[in-house]
Amino acid sequence: MQSSSLRKSETLEIRPIGATYAAEIIGLDLAIPLGDDLFRTLYQLFLQHKILVFRDQVFDDDAHSQFARHWGKLQVHVLNQYHKATNPEIIYLSNLDRDGTPKGEHPDPGAAIWHTDGSWAKERALATMLYGMVLPKSGGDTLFADMVAAYDGLSAMMKQKLDGLIAVHNLDYSRSLTTARQQMTEAQKRAAPPVEHSVIRIHPDTGRKAIYLGQHASHIVGMPIDEGRALISEINAHSTQAQYLYVHRWQPRDFVMWDNRQVMHKATDFDWINDVRTMRRTTTVREKI
Ligand code: SIN
Repeated sequence: MQSSSLRKSETLEIRPIGATYAAEIIGLDLAIPLGDDLFRTLYQLFLQHKILVFRDQVFDDDAHSQFARHWGKLQVHVLNQYHKATNPEIIYLSNLDRDGTPKGEHPDPGAAIWHTDGSWAKERALATMLYGMVLPKSGGDTLFADMVAAYDGLSAMMKQKLDGLIAVHNLDYSRSLTTARQQMTEAQKRAAPPVEHSVIRIHPDTGRKAIYLGQHASHIVGMPIDEGRALISEINAHSTQAQYLYVHRWQPRDFVMWDNRQVMHKATDFDWINDVRTMRRTTTVREKI
């Protein structure tokens, strides 16, 4: 068995694809187990580019989770209705139900709002990896916002205001903002109680500051709820201005991974009544902050 996923006689090629971040990595077959040296190289590219895109990958659930495991422990998402039946570390996001019938609902209504994966948990998400299995004819893009650049773009006065603030992140709150028919069950709410995180976080590897909010953030500790929500909305609007965005327009078999410590994201709408979008997702957690 080959121990590296570099195909024979190919070298790794890096092609920036966004205006300021996101890169395509050419020459890797993710179905082949990743060696440690190659993982270290990819990790540096991941820090540098924030989003890595691998085109035309053909690999199964097991190879996907084996690749993901290099980046940390795999999250078992509290919304267990999305778990793969035989492996709760794999999430299937599809607007078809298990027997292939359209559900008449967006595959993942929670993805339609700006968020950082797992910010609603103490053990926050590091990398999310999403594989495009079946894509709609139009729409269903993933938008990303660079939260490091968005922090840099704040006024000195706003940086000072946000420094030291703590936000409460609550999955039950953000779910209620969506069109999801299935809101959280009592058991899911108990398993994911609200948590507190600093509004400005420092990346443990790069030392750079980033805004850490999004729509899982419900309010600010020590501030009247309405005032905190208005501040969160203002900063979310600032962070999602065009100059901070990368739009991923999916191609079949794209595998996209992103650093949740540096970007937030949301999925755009598509015709989920007549068309199909099926994605396979893993998310890794490494930090307990
Ligand atoms: C997600 O929010 O993790 C999924 C994004 C997408 O489906 O584009």
